[in-house]
Amino acid sequence: MSAEKLYLYPVWIRLWHLVNALFCLSLIMTGISMQFSNPLVPMIRFDIAVSIHNITGILLSINYIGFLLGNLFTGNGRNYKMAFPGLSTRLKSQFHYYIKGIFTGDLPPFPISIEKKFNPLQQFSYVVIMYVSVPVLLVTGWSLMYPEVIPTRFLSTSGLHLTDLLHILIGFIISLFMFVHIYFCTIGKTTVSNFMSIINGYHETH
Ligand code: HEM
Repeated sequence: MSAEKLYLYPVWIRLWHLVNALFCLSLIMTGISMQFSNPLVPMIRFDIAVSIHNITGILLSINYIGFLLGNLFTGNGRNYKMAFPGLSTRLKSQFHYYIKGIFTGDLPPFPISIEKKFNPLQQFSYVVIMYVSVPVLLVTGWSLMYPEVIPTRFLSTSGLHLTDLLHILIGFIISLFMFVHIYFCTIGKTTVSNFMSIINGYHETH
């Protein structure tokens, strides 16, 4: 392979990511339908939306275990090990590049390499989403499927209500992440090159 192409996404990551993206889309659609649509004119019939949401949630959990095991047993896990000293400076520098440097033709402050495939903002958002948000989403989702495990009262309010609120809030945050994530994926060598990289595994450098 030429020096401009870095093999960053092995097959297992591509498969995990594809399944994860499709399941998240299905969960968002069925979740929105259950939350907002008029029961008399549902986007997706309520009982069907519940079944699809539950089944997809179970499959997403299995896929997530695959992601954890993959990161544990292959070198990919090191990309998620965030170094805290100097983190805010690195985040600011990457942010500055996104809002200014990129438009004035500056070179990226953290060029992508085999050793460091995420820039600081990517790494930070992927860690927060994959190691904080998704676990909370899955735990609250499973609890809502088996509500008998939820304490009746918590902080002097209904435990069920709180769990539901947390689940919806995290679902909203992950939906928002997906929008921003897709937008940032368009910032590559060409608009589509990052999307191609998660399909064929090879990242094209600038
Ligand atoms: C249709 C929806 C999606 C598209 C088109 C998409 C696109 C991409 C692309 C192009 C990359 C490789 C470039 C990069 O690292 O920035 C990537 C990586 C990644 N995406 Fe997505 N994504 C989608 C949904 C999601 C969702 C829902 C999540 C998490 C909940 C997610 C989490 C990740 C993670 C963690 C990586 C890095 C994987 C690794 O190399 O370890 N993506 N995505």
